[in-house]
Amino acid sequence: PAQNGQNLRSPICCIMGHVDTGKTKLLDCIRGTNVQEGEAGGITQQIGATYFPAENIRERTMELKADAKLNVPGLLVIDTPGHESFTNLRSRGSGLCDIAILVVDIMHGLEPQTIESLNLLKMRNTDFIVALNKVDRLNGWKTCRNAPIRKAMNQQTKNVQDQFNGKLNQIRGQFMEQGLNTELYYKNKSMGETFSIVPTSAIRTLNFVASSHMLVIVANSGEGIPDLLLLLVQWAQRTMVKRLTYSNEVQCTVLEVKVVEGHGTTIDVVLVNGVLREGDQVVVCGLQGTYLHHKEIKAAQGIKITAQGLEHTIAGTSLYVVGPRDDLENIKEAAMED
Ligand code: GTP
Ligand code: MG
Ligand code: NA
Repeated sequence: PAQNGQNLRSPICCIMGHVDTGKTKLLDCIRGTNVQEGEAGGITQQIGATYFPAENIRERTMELKADAKLNVPGLLVIDTPGHESFTNLRSRGSGLCDIAILVVDIMHGLEPQTIESLNLLKMRNTDFIVALNKVDRLNGWKTCRNAPIRKAMNQQTKNVQDQFNGKLNQIRGQFMEQGLNTELYYKNKSMGETFSIVPTSAIRTLNFVASSHMLVIVANSGEGIPDLLLLLVQWAQRTMVKRLTYSNEVQCTVLEVKVVEGHGTTIDVVLVNGVLREGDQVVVCGLQGTYLHHKEIKAAQGIKITAQGLEHTIAGTSLYVVGPRDDLENIKEAAMED
């Protein structure tokens, strides 16, 4: 329940962009995990959902002193692959989201799948924020762990700032060629018409701390992450109240069908709206099952479901909950028609 009486669900945010721009690394940075280095060839091959509770976001954005009032319970972020062969997954991710992060490598500018992602977002009229990632690659960049980007930028030499401005202007020009106005987020006076750019860094750095024994500390750089989180949540809760208003009607989409050792076929679903409760009768692709895992889960959330016979499920279809007055056979038919 929100502080101001609004009953909002968590916004769903999709991370998109060209391969190796740092989408998964950015998520690792926010989560404090290291998923990216465990991926085969460092290439994301599936879409996965991660939930960030509001308290987590509040903590991460404290330094921005925005007296941020968070009216949403959290943020559900969906990672997508940037490799050219995964257009279908990018399309599915962008179809689910309320808002998106478009990641651009500051050293590479706009690349083919950046433009493909842009077109998917334009087609669905989805608002997005540009993360201009890998700012640490600028020559002479001084790491300021997890600092708001303006603070980090102020610590840099004039030369680094000049390199940054050069790259920024070049990339703004490339967006212009795609018909889009962009601006650094803290200079952007007309969000909605002009898309905001947040410079970020998500690399893992090794800090060698000398003592009687050598101590190595591995940490993520994380500059600009607080800005990115705050901007996303504030923008979503300010401009999407109607869309994010919580509804009791279950809206649930299958993200992925996959085999997990020891569990057989499992499905990853995104609960976009409504609540799933322990014991709910659910139907996917004509298959009936009972939802068991948690007492109650409220939207938006990513959930893994295991059951017999899930191998016939198709990603992109809906999951239905059978209500007390519903006819099970009708719902099974509806699910088959998806
Ligand atoms: P796909 O999911 O395969 O499309 O890639 P991705 O966009 O998720 O990129 P990923 O997180 O796999 O990062 C790709 C490479 O860039 C890895 O080697 C990362 O360590 C590196 N990388 C990511 N973010 C940064 C950054 O901010 N700075 C630097 N220097 N390297 C980064
Ligand atoms: Mg990835
Ligand atoms: Na990668």
